[in-house]
Amino acid sequence: MSRVLQSIGHNIYFGDNAFVELDELLRTTRYTGCRKFIMVDENTIKHCLPVLLAATEELADAEIIETESGEKNKSLDVCFQLWSAMSELQADRKSLLLNLGGGVICDMGGFVAATFKRGIDFINIPTSLLAQVDAAIGGKTGVDLNNIKNQVGLFAFPEEVFVAPKFLETLPPSQLKSGFAEVVKHGLIADRQYWNSIREIKKVRNDITDDIIFQSLKIKNNIVVEDPEEANWRKVLNFGHTIGHAFESYSLEHDRKPISHGEAVAAGMICEAFLSHRKLGLGRNDLHEIVSFILRVFDSYPVKKETFTDFISLMRNDKKNVKGEIRFTLLSRIGSAEVDKPCSEEEILAALAFYRLNTFQ
Ligand code: GLY
Repeated sequence: MSRVLQSIGHNIYFGDNAFVELDELLRTTRYTGCRKFIMVDENTIKHCLPVLLAATEELADAEIIETESGEKNKSLDVCFQLWSAMSELQADRKSLLLNLGGGVICDMGGFVAATFKRGIDFINIPTSLLAQVDAAIGGKTGVDLNNIKNQVGLFAFPEEVFVAPKFLETLPPSQLKSGFAEVVKHGLIADRQYWNSIREIKKVRNDITDDIIFQSLKIKNNIVVEDPEEANWRKVLNFGHTIGHAFESYSLEHDRKPISHGEAVAAGMICEAFLSHRKLGLGRNDLHEIVSFILRVFDSYPVKKETFTDFISLMRNDKKNVKGEIRFTLLSRIGSAEVDKPCSEEEILAALAFYRLNTFQ
């Protein structure tokens, strides 16, 4: 039996046996005769689809819709192709879409399902660490627009989520690390003890256990359940993301091989830990602990002083800004965070300078 968490009107099933529950669900009258579509990319069609199909008899007749992996494909153009494919395959309002993939597939698949014929049911089956602890949980669906992350989208909750950690075995180390940044974030914002166990991790590939993943997912789910549509408290999940998204958008625009979301968030967490020290009195030891752990695990991103203003412009575009203020989630100590903390341009520039200094640039 898998472990089960209750989320917003649905359950999250966690464990390598979770597909037994999926098969049972698909046998219920709710899904009798319903057409099933599985969205995959070139990786999940190879590594994950055979596992899912072998474990789930009810998906034997499912149509497979393939898209390309990568953040650059999380776009309205690709949604257009996906809506068209579903139309051509005569998906109807009772059809079910199963999103088998990482963050891109879960975010975009949810959006495609929520808008197709005014909304059809979807199920998330996250296959990357990032999707298992973050993207598949909490109903944020959408796509990027002109390199601005998640600019178009809506809240739409899946019917159920099935998380099988065994899928992570086929992930390249860089992708595993990318998701690990969200695990680190969950410890920092919510649970000092959990952070202490994360700090024991030497090599992400070898040391990340099912319990660590489950705990991370649970922290995210608890926050979502408290504030599903981010009226206030859910903003706590944005720690590291305000400056992190600027790193990510900048890199998407300028680098031949852009940094991953996780690397960007890791850089963002260093900068925002510095702001936490300045604005909320996060202790010097905590700041040092955070910076040294992140730099031990993640590569740093080269950022020139001359580009700091580009980063500020990107932050000005952030959906979370209110009345022109750039607002942050900051830590008062490890395991405890506060939302909606405005920081001035000067303070953000100091945070970027702190990042440069600590990464020996
Ligand atoms: N990834 C942040 C959130 O789901 O709110």
